[in-house]
Parts: sequence; C-alpha cells; structure tokens
Amino acid sequence: MNLLRTKPVEQSISDTEEPGHRLKRDLTALDLVVFGVGVVIGTGIFVLTGRVARDYAGPGVAFSFAIAAIACGLAALCYAEFASTVPVAGSAYTFSYATFGEFPAWIIGWDLILELALAAAVVAVGWSGYVQSLLTTMGIPLPDELAGEKAVFNIPAVFIVLVVTTVLVLGIKVSSRFNEIVVAIKVVVILLVIVAGLFFVKAENYTPFIPPAEENPATEGLKAPLIQVLFGVPPVSFGWLGVFAAAAVVFFAYIGFDIVASAAEESRRPQRDLPIGIIGSLVVCTVLYVAVSLVVVGMQNYTRLSEDAPLADAFKAVGQSWAATLISIGAIAGLTTVVLILLLGQSRVFFAMSRDGLLPQWLSAVHPRFRTPHRTTIMVGVVVAVLAGLIPLSALAELVNIGTLFAFALVSIGVLVLRRTRPDLPRSFRTPLVPVVPILSALACLFVMLNLPVETWLRFAGWLVVGAVLYFAYGYRNSRLGAREAAARER
Ligand code: ALA
Repeated sequence: MNLLRTKPVEQSISDTEEPGHRLKRDLTALDLVVFGVGVVIGTGIFVLTGRVARDYAGPGVAFSFAIAAIACGLAALCYAEFASTVPVAGSAYTFSYATFGEFPAWIIGWDLILELALAAAVVAVGWSGYVQSLLTTMGIPLPDELAGEKAVFNIPAVFIVLVVTTVLVLGIKVSSRFNEIVVAIKVVVILLVIVAGLFFVKAENYTPFIPPAEENPATEGLKAPLIQVLFGVPPVSFGWLGVFAAAAVVFFAYIGFDIVASAAEESRRPQRDLPIGIIGSLVVCTVLYVAVSLVVVGMQNYTRLSEDAPLADAFKAVGQSWAATLISIGAIAGLTTVVLILLLGQSRVFFAMSRDGLLPQWLSAVHPRFRTPHRTTIMVGVVVAVLAGLIPLSALAELVNIGTLFAFALVSIGVLVLRRTRPDLPRSFRTPLVPVVPILSALACLFVMLNLPVETWLRFAGWLVVGAVLYFAYGYRNSRLGAREAAARER
C-alpha cells in the first residue's frame, strides 16, 4: 500500500483548469482581506472574550489574545508561502497532498471539517443567541426551546445556515458583495466599542491585571488543560496558567485567516494577493481584538462581565443602551459573514477532495450557470443546519480549536518539507527565516493545543480514527492519483 503518494504541485494546478471543475477567478487582494476579516471577527471577540476574562484570565485576557495572535502570525507566514506556491482550492488539504502524501492529506481534510463545518454550526448558534437578545429588547422574544443556547430545536440557527447556503450556491461574486457590506458594518461596530468604550474605562478595573492563580474545582479531571495534567499542577484559573488556558479558547477568534488560502483558485493573482489577504486580515484583527478586550475589561470589572453578550452588556452596565443595541445589530450582521465564509471554505475543501477522488466525484461538479460547486455546498449546508438546529455547541469550540491548531502545525512543517522536496517551485512569497519560523510556528501551535482540556484531546483522537476508517473504506481505492499511478505502472 502506498499511503504517502504525493500529488505533484503541477498536477494540482492543472486540475484547476479541467473543464466542468473550474471555478471563476475574480477575487482581488482587497476582496481577500475583506474575506479574511469577514470570517475572523465573530463569536470569538463578541462572545468568548467575556467568558474567558471572567473565568480564566481577568484583564489579562488581552495577553491571551496577544499569545494566540503570535501562534497565528507564525502560522500565517507559513500559510502564505504555501498558498502562493500551490494556489489551488482546498487550503491545508491541498498543501499536505503535495508534501506529506495522500493519507496525511486526507486526515487534514477530515480535520478541516472540524475547523470549518463545526465552527459554522457554533457561530450559527451564537447568531441565534444575539437574535434572541435583540428580539427580547424589542419585546417579542422567541420561546427558549426555539432559540439560543438551550434550544431544543434552534430555528434561527437553521434559518441562517440555509439562507447562507443559498447565497453561496448562487455564486461567489454575489456572496463577496454581500460580504463587503456586512464586514463594513461589523468593523464599524467594533470601532464603536473601542472609541465609545474609552470614555467609560476606569483605571481600578485594571488591578490586578492578572489576578493571582486560584484552584478551580470546576476544571478538574477531563476538563483540566492537558498541560496542567502533564505537569501535575492542580487545575487553576487566573495567574499565567489561566492566561494560557484563555489563549487556547480565544484562539477561536482568529480562526479563518487561513480560509483566505482556500479561495486561491478564485483569486485573480493568487501569488501576490494571497499573502496580502492572509497576513493583512490577521494584522487588522489582532489590533482590534487587543483594543476591544482592553476596553471591555476596563469598563466593567472582569468578575461582572456577561457570558452571552459581553460587549453589549458592558455598555448597558454604564447606562448606554443605545450602544448596546447597535452592537447587537452589528454582531448579528457580523456573525452572518462568519457562517458564510466558513461554509464557503468547507465546500471548497470538499470540492478539492472530491476532485481528487477521495470523496465521490459527482460532488465536485460545477453548476453550469452559477459556476459554483453547488452539490458540496448544499450537502455541507444541510448537515451544518441540522447540527446547528439540534446541538448546543458552545463547548465544541474547543474541538474546533484543536483541529485548526493541528492543521496549522502540519502546514508549518510542510513548508520545510516542500522547500526540501521541491526547491525549484516558484514561491512569490517566501516564509522569512526558514527553518526558524516554521519550527517556532509548529511549537507555538502545540503549546496552545496543550492548554486545551484533556476531553478535547480525546474527542479529537476519536474523530481522527473515524476519518482513517473512511479513508481505507473509500478514498484509498478511489483516489485519482492512485489510478494514475497504477496506469503508469502498466504502461
Ligand atoms: N474566528 C471566528 C469567530 O470568532 C470563527 O467567530
């Protein structure tokens, strides 16, 4: 068996020209940055900031955002090199196919489902929570069974996923236009939080900046961060260990800049524009996150931050309900684009996997009129809608994080591998200081992963086992690369 057969980069690129499987190329660098910002700013900053400040890090949450940004920044430098070398749909999946081989690539593709589809469902549930809070303000709340975290069947979450799926099937240009408007609203709202919030900051809320570590029985056993278990420390919150644990959660806020890479086939000048798109969106978001978290913990003592809508509630707490309402509306708009781009990314990864024969090929047919991979889009949309409707997914954000960090670590190592195996390839963007940056990137991702709970690691392992079983049952035998290699041997 050859589990490590690699797909030549040239083959990946020429596959994108295949009639019937070709995507339209009309995204510019600016479209890509907007794409990135559109997916990155979401539940992470709007919802998780308050929870982690209250439970793990206090005002030190600003450090957590900075630590997560360092890991992402290093990974972004590696993603940018890869995306500029292999400008093909499918992101980390495609990169791994060119470097590590088919089986690792399949595992990465399978892993990306955690990042993309599961995150889309998480964000859709968050969207529904904000809708519920706005409807409550307007005096027409939905019953708790039908909206928000505790819903039995979450109608707004299903609704938003299905609407977004329809937009995606109709075509990338429609969706990026729609995206631009909503992203603008979202960024304005975030700036509003920073600027208006500054007037209400009280210096005493910043002391202690990192509250002293305290034992936390709520995070014992499987809920303890792996690193604390490995080093035999009793589970603690706050202190630097708390700041690290918080970084592993707020990492969710950065997920998405890598998705810019999966729009490679649809961008006009991928070699130049992808690095701009990836690194540009990451820089914008990091600055906004650190500023927002500093302002919010300055407005309200961290122990009093709300769990569901911390940004809006901090303004309510200082008597500025008008700002709270605006922020809620912005969050609803903002979370919409997050769902949109996560679903777009997922359908493109499936598209790439099916084009390679690792998933059934009929999935990757492009719609004759809309030129979008409508079948994968619809399939992913329906599954995510069902998940979002039935499952309260907040705890699963951690599973999303571990899956994403794993992909980041592999991509970083992949840069080193491809430099060695294919030094000849044109690389319009080269990761600086190789091998230092890729190695630091992989280590930083591993460090953040180790700060996730033991139970997250167990779930992740289970997910990978299921993926491996599917590969041997279907992908290995149906791989187009496998078929090509077999034909070459016969000749
Ligand atoms: N980064 C995205 C968010 O925070 C997934 O919602």
